[in-house]
Amino acid sequence: MPELPSAAVVGPPHIVVIAAHPAMEQSRVNHALLQAVRALAGDGVAVEVRDLYALYPDYLIDVAAEQACLAAASLIVWQHPLHWYGMTPLMKLWVDEVLTFGWAYGPGGTALAGKPLWLVTSTGGTRDSYHPDSYNRYAFTAFVPPYEQTAALCGMRFIEPLVLHGAHHASADAVAAHAETYCQRLRRHPAWPQDDAAGDGDCADCAVPATARPAATREAHRAE
Ligand SMILES: Cc1cc2nc3c(=O)[nH]c(=O)nc-3n(C[C@H](O)[C@H](O)[C@H](O)COP(=O)(O)O)c2cc1C
Repeated sequence: MPELPSAAVVGPPHIVVIAAHPAMEQSRVNHALLQAVRALAGDGVAVEVRDLYALYPDYLIDVAAEQACLAAASLIVWQHPLHWYGMTPLMKLWVDEVLTFGWAYGPGGTALAGKPLWLVTSTGGTRDSYHPDSYNRYAFTAFVPPYEQTAALCGMRFIEPLVLHGAHHASADAVAAHAETYCQRLRRHPAWPQDDAAGDGDCADCAVPATARPAATREAHRAE
């Protein structure tokens, strides 16, 4: 199987799973996935789980700690159920606070460049409901560009998402099979097949100039 070049990723494989479920104790899918990932860690796979709602019940994210984890990662996974066609609230706050200008993107913001980002999510809606003729009206892929573009802005390689549709009615066997697929992929890291990559992360149009930020813009105006 061909391997993707891992541009800025040096050092041994280290998978960081950012998990964000607001009610993990009620979860069937994400809870099962996390349990499977934790078992992988027990088997010697270099995987670290950051369960955001457990770590930060007060929503006070330790940005320095999160950035240090990401800096050491060779693969970053975002694992959350789909809520209102996007991220769960703490996942979104984590993105807002951790992926900072000058660190994750913008001038000098190369900390994540070349790292693969993999979205692992679940939807209550069935695969068929994500269709123009059904109540979700759009294909599931219509909701993915904000993730893909976030990755691109940070120079990350966006990996084709792993999605379990119809989570409410998925059988225990289907959930277990899904967890196994997830773990097989994690075990295979860093040997990702070429066709798993939805983008190569090398986005020439994604360089954010210093003047794009309000503070920088004010500075620039003052200097005029
Ligand atoms: C607040 C909230 C918003 C949700 N929004 C969506 C949605 O936009 N699309 C969808 O298909 N399912 C939606 N769901 C269903 C969840 O995606 C589903 O419950 C979850 O994937 C099941 O995973 P779990 O067993 O880990 O909880 C939503 C659920 C909640 C609680």
